Amino acid sequence: PEAITVQELANRMAARGGEVVKALFRMGVMATLTQTIDADTAELVVNEFGHRVKRVSEADVEQGLTGTADIDTDLQVRAPVVTIMGHVDHGKTSLLDALRKTDVAAREAGGITQHIGAYQVTIAGGQKITFLDTPGHEAFTAMRARGASVTDMVVLVVAADDGVMPQTIEAIHHAKAANVPLIVAVNKIDKQGVNLDRVRQELLQHEIVVESLGGDTQEIQVSALKGTNLDKLQEAILLQAEVLDLKANPDRAAEGTVIESKLDKGRGPVATVLVQKGTLRQGDLVVAGAEWGRVRAMLDDKGRQVKEAGPSLPVEILGLSGVPTAGETFVAVENESRAREISEYRQRVARDKQAAAAGAARGTLADMMA
Ligand code: GTP
Ligand code: MG
Repeated sequence: PEAITVQELANRMAARGGEVVKALFRMGVMATLTQTIDADTAELVVNEFGHRVKRVSEADVEQGLTGTADIDTDLQVRAPVVTIMGHVDHGKTSLLDALRKTDVAAREAGGITQHIGAYQVTIAGGQKITFLDTPGHEAFTAMRARGASVTDMVVLVVAADDGVMPQTIEAIHHAKAANVPLIVAVNKIDKQGVNLDRVRQELLQHEIVVESLGGDTQEIQVSALKGTNLDKLQEAILLQAEVLDLKANPDRAAEGTVIESKLDKGRGPVATVLVQKGTLRQGDLVVAGAEWGRVRAMLDDKGRQVKEAGPSLPVEILGLSGVPTAGETFVAVENESRAREISEYRQRVARDKQAAAAGAARGTLADMMA
């Protein structure tokens, strides 16, 4: 695992360097401020100082990569990442478009938006919300199957005139399986003769109990068409985000998930990634899935070139060697040999999985060895 200097560790804990040196001395480690100590020792020191060490990321475990765990004091509030789900024609796309129009940052940018799989909206109060524009539930399922947890909450769109339908139920199951909270957006309330009580009763049958029935699921009545109550929906999202206490450390090597990818004729492999930890910078070396490369350029959802992207910001990146698969993770690494090493490791894992799947199809491993 990567080491950390005593000074850096002290900075991260907002402690005096001398105190850390003393703590190390008590543990039998002689080190000066500029010397490096390994991650295990660092963790012991962090505990000594009464801080909790945050879980080391999956990528770290996978490869013994950076090894530096995030400690409480490094963590900063980040924007919630929201997935909108619901039955066909209930208004997911309309709602996403309507929410996007509330973006004060987009107006500044001249309103030119490009369609990438995720975007971030800055609302009037300055808070930000990231929306994942999943084309369908399959994408969500695929990501979950790969163990990628990208979304913090689900906004379930239910058309008031149609009620709970098969894909509504599917979305409820997805949210439950992913263990993320759900907010109900009852859409199309502009329509004549809609029966909100019926919708609530139908949701109740699937164990979604909205607040007006004494439950703890927020229900917001909206009209994507007329733009009604979009602010209330955003407030509900921010309230849920506060409850979840969403935080990330922006001051570390970037890590996140590939949301979508394509091979662009002019630009080569293009991946939309969601940064989940750290800050991704133009020029960084990244491994995305089994592909790697130096980030040649980064674009935000407004088509603007950006030099850096912090937690919860989705960006398009150019410069990868190939097209990674949606749902795969990416990490920024320090040098090319490390990039190659991880890429080769992931290719090997992928090959082994394929072989295992093929093996399982033919019989058990024991059968093959016999
Ligand atoms: P799929 O992507 O096909 O699953 O549909 P969707 O959920 O994205 O629905 P979409 O936004 O395409 O809307 C479906 C239809 O409902 C369109 O004709 C919209 O104009 C209409 N619609 C969406 N929101 C509202 C609303 O608030 N009120 C009314 N009256 N119509 C709406
Ligand atoms: Mg749609």
